[in-house]
Amino acid sequence: MQSDMGNIMVKDKQPKSNSQTSDQPHYGARNHKSARHLALWLYALSALVALMVMVGGATRLTDSGLSITQWDLLMGALPPMSEEKWVEEFELYRQIPEYEHVNKGMSLAEFKGIYWWEWSHRNLGRFIGMAFLIPFLIFLWRGDIASRGLKLKLGGAFVLLMGQGLMGWLMVKSGLTERVDVSQYRLAAHLFLAFLFYAVLLWMAFHLSLRRSGKPLVKAFQWARWLTLLVSIQILLGALVAGLRAGKTFNTWPLMSGNFIPEGYFKSPAHWQDIFETIAAVQFNHRIMAYIVICAGFVFWFFTRRFGKAASRRAGWILMALTAQMFLGIWTLLSAVPIGLGLAHQLGALGVLSLCVYFLYWSAPESPGRSNAESS
Ligand code: HEM
Repeated sequence: MQSDMGNIMVKDKQPKSNSQTSDQPHYGARNHKSARHLALWLYALSALVALMVMVGGATRLTDSGLSITQWDLLMGALPPMSEEKWVEEFELYRQIPEYEHVNKGMSLAEFKGIYWWEWSHRNLGRFIGMAFLIPFLIFLWRGDIASRGLKLKLGGAFVLLMGQGLMGWLMVKSGLTERVDVSQYRLAAHLFLAFLFYAVLLWMAFHLSLRRSGKPLVKAFQWARWLTLLVSIQILLGALVAGLRAGKTFNTWPLMSGNFIPEGYFKSPAHWQDIFETIAAVQFNHRIMAYIVICAGFVFWFFTRRFGKAASRRAGWILMALTAQMFLGIWTLLSAVPIGLGLAHQLGALGVLSLCVYFLYWSAPESPGRSNAESS
């Protein structure tokens, strides 16, 4: 991997590949130097987003997500500054169903423990917002971002980030009144948007720092798109498992309570939504999809061998990552989701997605008029 991806940041010192013509404006950056700075910034942002996903996972796994019951973009950055303020904050928490039905009798010290997780998650979100906006404005002001296309793409990514903050609040809101937990659909949407934002940042960073294969790999690219779609569906299904805490039950593999298909999986068309709303069903869906994704990964690797060593090696990385992720998932399930394994499984999903995005970028056909369009 090192040797293949080792050309990050030194693209300007490399001979240009077929897809990297001399008039191509570095994916919309002013020059090589600007492209390098922009790429570094985008890689750093994607690492921050991965950290954010981890902190979000820890917040969920420690049951801390509903501890802050208000939403205040600016003032919410400050934690309670006095004992009196802590008591006030705790009083707000004591009014929601989660306290009443799950945490009744919790002490103020215990409340502080769950508060700090949610506070860290929200403040890391604010930090990412700043780490995006401030350098973005500086790059714009210095003229590092030369093309309208790249300005729009980066602007769109910022809107996505704002949407993610809003989605996070909508998710928390769904657990404040009638339920003792957030809606699994909103949790899935929140997680999915985080993965999407991460993938968009990586995609742009790759454009600014890595070379493409330089060969026509249209078919391999198309297959990689299908595989990435399957991986994305699997990520969504995993989020439903996490949202319903379905990993705490049926802790056996490969059977679920002695059956391959859990009892009552599909009762009737009238209850079709049960397949996304019951613990047994969402866990079964995630298991089955894992087998499908692994098979698809194998077929993909097998198929890409005809495009030469470089393609099959990259497809092999995806297959290996998928296999490791499957075993990690099984281990996580058999141990009923301890926090460390839960987080490792999340990180594994980000790793699989990164490799898919890299393959897509590497094999994507260069559209002929793009460099001109980028610079206009
Ligand atoms: C092969 C590809 C797989 C991918 C890409 C994948 C991805 C994911 C993702 C993104 C989540 C949500 C993580 C979170 O929000 O905390 C998740 C959760 C989970 N997955 Fe997988 N998974 C895979 C395979 C498996 C397998 C084979 C099993 C077990 C049979 C499994 C068991 C679980 C469990 C128990 C959870 C819930 C963890 C929690 O509550 O934090 N996964 N998966």
